[in-house]
Amino acid sequence: MAKPKLVVSTGAGISAESGIRTFRDADGLWENYPVMDVASADGFRRNPALVHQFYNERRHALLQAEPNAAHRALVALEKDYDVYIITQNVDDLHERAGSKNVMHLHGELMKIRSVDDPDYIETLDRDHLDTTPATRGERGDLMRPHIVFFQEPVPMIEAAVDLVNEADIFVVIGTSLVVYPAAGLINCVRPGTPIYYIDPNPAATPTIPNLTVIKAKATEGMEILARRLADRS
Ligand code: OAD
Repeated sequence: MAKPKLVVSTGAGISAESGIRTFRDADGLWENYPVMDVASADGFRRNPALVHQFYNERRHALLQAEPNAAHRALVALEKDYDVYIITQNVDDLHERAGSKNVMHLHGELMKIRSVDDPDYIETLDRDHLDTTPATRGERGDLMRPHIVFFQEPVPMIEAAVDLVNEADIFVVIGTSLVVYPAAGLINCVRPGTPIYYIDPNPAATPTIPNLTVIKAKATEGMEILARRLADRS
């Protein structure tokens, strides 16, 4: 018999217990930089050197971080469910934990892409993490961080909506639900689909039916969720 399809939308909160700071817990600053200077198309045009330097720093920090028990708990659910993760995070902690199906809505820190051809993407090797506005890829293209900046479209959103629409169970973990279109995924489930939202400081979600809020950090919340799912089956 086919396993039920469990679709999970994760945000910065799932990586918080791995030591990676969330965005909105620090007054619009991201690691001490104004978010719009380092994560917007305008910011990149204004000061590409700063933006490259910022993502270089994030890559070095990411190499010091490890997946936590919440990332691993999602891998464990693959035994009983077809698990699909849609993450807003640019870190690779889901992959390093061992999750099979991970879709990155906002890009990936360990990758760079051509400035002129969004489909040309290279993966950085761990010994050469630093890029500058003069960095060229193997094909000769000028390269930029593979990050979906504010003011840019989110190319994976349609595929993400399709996945959520096929979910038998939908789980949201550690996101403030303020950045669209990702925040709207919770409205794309089929009617009657159970939704679980794990967050120690959850966003207000007054009009969403079948929603169970688990007000807890990701690691503890995943233990609670695993018990709830076991009770359902
Ligand atoms: P936010 O920083 O907006 O929200 C983080 C959420 O994680 C908040 O709701 C916190 O309450 C929650 N949180 C904090 N600690 C937690 C923990 N230990 N366990 C679980 N949850 C915890 O991050 P996102 O919603 O992911 O975009 O932000 C969305 C997008 O905005 C990001 O992908 C990024 C940013 O600009 C880009 O970089 C393009």
